[in-house]
Amino acid sequence: MEFALLNGEIIERSEAKVDVEDRGYQFGDGVYEVIRVYNGKMFTLAEHLKRFVKSAESIGISLKYTSEQLTDLLRNLLIKNNLVTGNIYMQVTRGIAPRNHVFPTGNVPPTLVAYTIKGVRPLDNLKTGVRAILTEDIRWLRCDIKSLNLLGNLLAKQKASEQGCFEAIQHRGQDVTEGSSSNIFIVKNGTVITHESNNLILKGITKDVILDLCIKNNIPVIERTFSLAELDEAEEVFLSSTTAEVTPIIGINGKKIREGVPGPITKKLQELFEKEIEKQCGVLVR
Ligand SMILES: Cc1ncc(COP(=O)(O)O)c(C=O)c1O
Repeated sequence: MEFALLNGEIIERSEAKVDVEDRGYQFGDGVYEVIRVYNGKMFTLAEHLKRFVKSAESIGISLKYTSEQLTDLLRNLLIKNNLVTGNIYMQVTRGIAPRNHVFPTGNVPPTLVAYTIKGVRPLDNLKTGVRAILTEDIRWLRCDIKSLNLLGNLLAKQKASEQGCFEAIQHRGQDVTEGSSSNIFIVKNGTVITHESNNLILKGITKDVILDLCIKNNIPVIERTFSLAELDEAEEVFLSSTTAEVTPIIGINGKKIREGVPGPITKKLQELFEKEIEKQCGVLVR
């Protein structure tokens, strides 16, 4: 039997239902997180909880639980579901109220939901890399909030999928922003470059781990906007996310990068990233 967390209680997943007037359902009025679980342990949990609280606060939702309480609730959920490898999906919405664009007044409690999804590491993609397309970034100007409103991201990902690609690399005019569900990195003259964490992208937890690993291991790294031309000329390209880790990109819009094989800096960062997982969660099955 599977279990889910609903407003502080762990209940049977089939019993966890959403009211038709939940503002998450009607407006996407809420925020979410995806947390990776390796060996039954949550990777970079503190960082995910911090971002969750920050996203919620930035749209005026105050969580009714402290980070410590959330940690306990999520741990109990993992244990109940015997999750060894997979993800936790967690979201909070502004709660249930008669449909109105204006926020509800009074004491409407936010709806907090979490459940687990079993899932192995994407070993094939990590090894051989993936292909991507380019698409104009049509999203709003607060991409730093991990909002439930993902229509722009979905349209971009669907376009990639229809062309047999894993990811859509988005750009605003000539500037590359991020993937539909990942951050994008290039290597230029041996330096790792990725978009600065501002309102135009999500400050990825994986991105921050990678930046940290670069600094600690003397790999030159810089956060700055890079152009489509720089992407086209890049020595290496890779993407990062909670579920995709450090995934090489080996072709964009049908054009191969490095003859279609992952580059040395990407591979080095994959190795360092695995070590970081093992430090927090124990030895990985490869
Ligand atoms: C738009 C977007 N950018 C970046 C990321 C990567 O963030 P993280 O490394 O925290 O998973 C995601 C993850 O889902 C995302 O949806």
